[in-house]
Amino acid sequence: MDTLQQSLTEHGYVVFDLRDRMNEALTQLEQAAEAAPLEDWTQVINNNGRVQDLALNDPVLVKEHALARDRLFAGEFAYSFKRIDCAGEARSAASEQVRSFLRSTLFTSMLADRFGSVVTGGEAVYINKFEEGDFLTTHCDRGADIAVVISLTRDWDMNYGGLTFILSQDRTRILRTISPSFGEAVIFDTKGKPTPHFVSMVCAPRGRGRSSLVARLHIERIKQ
Ligand SMILES: [Fe+2]
Repeated sequence: MDTLQQSLTEHGYVVFDLRDRMNEALTQLEQAAEAAPLEDWTQVINNNGRVQDLALNDPVLVKEHALARDRLFAGEFAYSFKRIDCAGEARSAASEQVRSFLRSTLFTSMLADRFGSVVTGGEAVYINKFEEGDFLTTHCDRGADIAVVISLTRDWDMNYGGLTFILSQDRTRILRTISPSFGEAVIFDTKGKPTPHFVSMVCAPRGRGRSSLVARLHIERIKQ
């Protein structure tokens, strides 16, 4: 069994670099996200279990973001960040590009070679962007079989936050810190072994954001 698959089974998550294989394809996704018009983006906010995808010019956004931040301060699960939904009805250029990347031989052969798996479906697919004040508190990714997160962020200053912290099962210790780095992938086992993690609040200059491709996928093992 591949060591990446072994690590995923053992730890519930695995971190690895895709730049060698996918630099060009990921650069195209990065450019598609950068070129996406504002209308493609929403602010997805989870406030007390209520999830809303708000247009960036929605007048209630500031208030809803502040309410979600209050949940963070209260120690509860909450998030607020920007995303381009790539799994829904909307067919933006960026979402089409993400879909074709996930269908590409480049991506499917990586999953086959390194994880002995083929994709049989997807539940949630989006490009996210964390800008100033955006955050995602401690949670375990659930649904489907794996969650694939591929960083599309270059030259990130760690002082800007937006770091992913992997926690112990009892959520009292940090096991690993992942700083945004272009082409770095994290895969979480969303079925077998839940891994608590969070993304720290971003404090970055206007116009700087931390972006990733996120896909929760159903997979089938094709080899052991
Ligand atoms: Fe997550």
